[in-house]
Amino acid sequence: MPDMNRGDLVMGIVGAGLMGRGIAQVAILGGLRVRLCDARPGAAAEAGAEIGATLSMLVGKGRLAREAADAALARLAAVEGLAQLAGCHVVVEAIVENLEAKRALFERLEAVVGDGCLLATNTSSLPVTAIAAACRVPQRVAGLHFFSPVPLMKVVEVIDGALTDPAVGDALAALARRLGHTPVRAQDTPGFIVNHAGRGYLTEALRVLGEGIAEPAQIDRILRASASFRLGPFELLDLTGLDVSCPVMETIYHQYYEEPRYRPSPLLRQRLAAGLLGRKSGRGFYAYADGRAQLPEAPPVPPASPLPLWVGSPECGARENLLRRLQAGGAHLDSGARPSPESVCIVLPIGRDASSTAVDEGLDPARTVAVDPLFLDLHATLMCTPLTAPAARDAVWAALAADGTAVSAIRDSAGFVAQRVVAMIVNIGCDIAQQRIATPQDIDRAVTLGLGYPLGPLALGDALGGATVLAILDALQAFYRDPRYRPSPWLTRRARLGVSLLTPEP
Ligand SMILES: NC(=O)c1ccc[n+]([C@@H]2O[C@H](COP(=O)([O-])OP(=O)(O)OC[C@H]3O[C@@H](n4cnc5c(N)ncnc54)[C@H](O)[C@@H]3O)[C@@H](O)[C@H]2O)c1
Repeated sequence: MPDMNRGDLVMGIVGAGLMGRGIAQVAILGGLRVRLCDARPGAAAEAGAEIGATLSMLVGKGRLAREAADAALARLAAVEGLAQLAGCHVVVEAIVENLEAKRALFERLEAVVGDGCLLATNTSSLPVTAIAAACRVPQRVAGLHFFSPVPLMKVVEVIDGALTDPAVGDALAALARRLGHTPVRAQDTPGFIVNHAGRGYLTEALRVLGEGIAEPAQIDRILRASASFRLGPFELLDLTGLDVSCPVMETIYHQYYEEPRYRPSPLLRQRLAAGLLGRKSGRGFYAYADGRAQLPEAPPVPPASPLPLWVGSPECGARENLLRRLQAGGAHLDSGARPSPESVCIVLPIGRDASSTAVDEGLDPARTVAVDPLFLDLHATLMCTPLTAPAARDAVWAALAADGTAVSAIRDSAGFVAQRVVAMIVNIGCDIAQQRIATPQDIDRAVTLGLGYPLGPLALGDALGGATVLAILDALQAFYRDPRYRPSPWLTRRARLGVSLLTPEP
């Protein structure tokens, strides 16, 4: 096994496109000698020139010393033809995402390199095992999945195929560290960690949209404010482009034999057919003018109402907090054991909708308004039953907005928006742990670094409380009777035991 920290380590890179260029840049800066090649004549030399320009730009900005840039560039060789990769210690493939092309390339590579050379694929969506299976020595083949842009995205998934020697993965993890990246180790499964864990955010947000609960701008606003996501799901879809994200969603869904948790929305294909790709086509979930999203104006806060507010859901832990806030905002509170005939009834459901909660608490649905108790300190989301009078909704809206809190009013939904989206993210993260695809720590590391979430799915679940996430999912499953919401055994056990979702199982 070649030592990935040896001073004279030589890396071959096949494919001098976006990813190959990025990998070459971090590798030469990490002190490796790199031989970069591409099927298109001249492509490797062009890539070398581009890397040179990038390093000069970094020198110009004072982020890299001229000598270090020159020394790094001296370690880069653009080569024509695979034969020149003979003698490499490791070769990373970053060619077109096509299984047959990759299998054919690995077969040709094996005829060139020595048996001790490690072979890595940067594939995002193809099975590493299927690529390795075409090789004479499949044990030396693993995935080394970088993210774009490689120099900035500091995480690499090291993927063990069914035939990979674990020592190969260890060596590639050491190589990733040498390049200044954080390796996370994943079993060869669809989407590995990052693309698998990313399903919850987008598919559940699309489900909320598809069900007519809220508009894209509202959903984005709620998730940015409630759970500190940098980009809302629809902003993210528009940025990536539906032509890229729709096939990824469909592929993972089918690769998992139509697992309902990953079921994509029928909205996607229709929007794709209409050319509503996102930023790149000028219109997606938002319209763009001069590269900027045209956001609809937030509706104005209704005027304060004289209607008394009565708060139900006595078992909810956030009830006292809400009462204090309403009082501080000067709301007229009804503190009776039951609501007076004119009072607006506020309920605080977890995983349930306003209508069922009103009925179960014996309240008049025409006067009931539900407030999301879980994210109340960050953003107030309220929802109504189909019968709620607009005056009742506006009374709660005005009272919650009195201290400057942003309020979003949505249609009735089991689990509002943030509860159900966050619960899906946590549940999918738990199931990745349950399937032993990666360790709990690596799952959270991969998601924070690869997707930019404020917390990994397991830490996010701990922050809400495993039992609360379980309650949301149980309620969603009972409401929709859809196995999409069935809780992962990993979540159920840890919630029942009252321990962290990061608790491993030997
Ligand atoms: N673009 C991303 O964000 C991203 C992120 C992670 C992984 N990946 C994966 O990395 C790989 C490369 O993606 P990219 O975005 O750099 O693509 P790209 O189109 O920018 O570059 C691919 C390069 O490979 C060359 N090529 C194609 N077939 C070849 C062959 N048989 N032999 C040698 N060279 C060949 C092409 O000429 C091109 O220069 C794919 O497997 C992709 O799924 C891409």
